[in-house]
Amino acid sequence: MSAVMVVAWSVFALQMMIKIGALKKMAPESRMDQIPRRIGLLFKIGIGQEKLVGRSRERMPGIMHALIFWGAMLIGIREVTLMGEGFVHGFQEYLPLLGSNYLSGFFIHLSLQHCRTRCFADDPSCALPAFCSSTGQA
Ligand code: HEM
Repeated sequence: MSAVMVVAWSVFALQMMIKIGALKKMAPESRMDQIPRRIGLLFKIGIGQEKLVGRSRERMPGIMHALIFWGAMLIGIREVTLMGEGFVHGFQEYLPLLGSNYLSGFFIHLSLQHCRTRCFADDPSCALPAFCSSTGQA
C-alpha cells in the first residue's frame, strides 16, 4: 500500500509541476496583497460556492453542485486521514478540528459508520475488515 501511495503522490507531484510550469510562463501577477480579503473570498466563493448557489435562475443545479463539491471535500479529507491512520493509529485525533471532540471531527467519524456496518455485515465479499481493524473500527 505504501508503494501505491508513493506512486500516486509522485504522479500528483509531476502533474503539479507541469501545471506550475505553465503558470510561470504567463505574465507575472502579484497575489500576495490583500491577504485577508483573498482568504475571505476563498471561503465565500470557493468553499461557500456563492456564485453557484447565488443565481436565482439556477438555484437547484447550484445547490447540487455545492453538495457534490462539499462531498468531494469530505472524501478528500477522509482520504488523507485514512492514509495517516495506516501509519499512525489514531492519526485523526492529532489533527486540528478533526479529532472526535470537534463537531467537524464527529461528522468525519460518522462516515466511518459505513465501514463498521460493512464489516459487521458478515458479508464474505466485504473487502474492508482488514482496513477497518487498522482504523480500530472492527
Ligand atoms: C458532477 C460533477 C460536476 C459538474 C458537472 C460540475 C460543473 C461545473 C460547472 C458547469 C461550473 C461553472 C459554473 C458557472 O460558473 O457557470 C463549475 C464550477 C466550479 N466547480 Fe464544478 N462540477 C462538478 C463537480 C465539482 C467538484 C467535485 C469540484 C471540486 C471538488 C468542483 C469545483 C468547482 C469550482 C471550485 C467551481 C468554480 C466556482 C465559482 O466560480 O464560483 N466541481 N462546475
